[in-house]
Amino acid sequence: MSIRAVITGLGHAVPDKVMTNDDLAKIVDTNDEWIRQRTGIHERRVCTDDEATSDLAIAAGREALERSGTKPEDLCLIVVGTVTGDYPFPSTSCLVQEALGAKNAGAFDVGAACAGFIYSVDVAAAMIESGRYEKALVIGVDTLTKFVDWTDRSTCVLFGDGAGAVMLEGHHGTDRGLIKTVLLSDGAGAEHISLKKGGSRHPLSDPQSSDESSNIYMNGQEVYRFAVGAMGDACTRALEEAEMRASEIDLFVPHQANIRIINSAAEKLGLPDEKVFINVDKYGNTSGGSIPLALYEAYEEGRLKEGMVVMTVGFGAGLVWGANILRF
Ligand code: UT7
Repeated sequence: MSIRAVITGLGHAVPDKVMTNDDLAKIVDTNDEWIRQRTGIHERRVCTDDEATSDLAIAAGREALERSGTKPEDLCLIVVGTVTGDYPFPSTSCLVQEALGAKNAGAFDVGAACAGFIYSVDVAAAMIESGRYEKALVIGVDTLTKFVDWTDRSTCVLFGDGAGAVMLEGHHGTDRGLIKTVLLSDGAGAEHISLKKGGSRHPLSDPQSSDESSNIYMNGQEVYRFAVGAMGDACTRALEEAEMRASEIDLFVPHQANIRIINSAAEKLGLPDEKVFINVDKYGNTSGGSIPLALYEAYEEGRLKEGMVVMTVGFGAGLVWGANILRF
């Protein structure tokens, strides 16, 4: 009997501080109407100077653990999808491991930007399905507001901070769990969205690298074109590989980057509004946190129920993209 990786608990965390579009209009040349029309975002959560990625990851992870009734010492794995870890090293997952007291767990981070949760779930699920690991905590989290240029209106209005988490457990004899994942990448598009300073190519300590920016660079129109194609591509491939039709999807939970990108993907798949979950209005693009935060809210609102077939899809810097189909 094969082992399936089933979600048994959800968690989330966002900073308390709310930044509305009107707040942004006070610091950069923008306005509420433009941001709402072009992105669907009304407000976002922003970390204070004292808050960092691991604070959100720990809170989201703890909630998922508690809701699944898992003891920290029973965890085998902690996988954190993030590109904004507290430090280049140690990994954020090790900070989570210590804070939760998960003394028997292996821990590592996955760097796949806004597709980080899609990648992390698949890695953890594959390890569970192998039979060598039973219980994994998977967290998607980012704090991109720490890296935006608050004078660049083309990027600073888009991002927010947030985290979501799922407990994945190996179950026998069930049709629940991960059904199919597609993971894709295209490094030729690396230049379109990047943060180049602070790595080994341009270390912070190197005066020669002072020309590189410490902030996010993004070619918005190029990323938009890529995103619309990537969402459709990943979903179509995942459905084909699962031998399913889009009409069999009960809930579509896409990466929350821009309402126009989400609507375009849903339209291509022929999914009606009631099957599409959207919370980009409240949080903006929280990168790795986006999909699990949306899953959490969908569950809380009663739109995600046990037994439903869910499709998640994400895209981001790399370029990377991918989709998961699972029975919740
Ligand atoms: O997870 C991956 C992360 N990235 C994304 O998902 C981003 C994908 N890209 C996008 O979502 C869109 O390209 C944006 C929302 C970033 C921009 O929307 P757009 O419809 O592509 O706008 P645009 O860049 O073509 O700019 C249109 C106009 C320009 O003015 P002109 O040249 O027409 O006079 C911009 O200067 O809007 C102006 N503009 C703004 N105006 C007010 C750009 N940003 C702003 C702003 N407020 N924040």
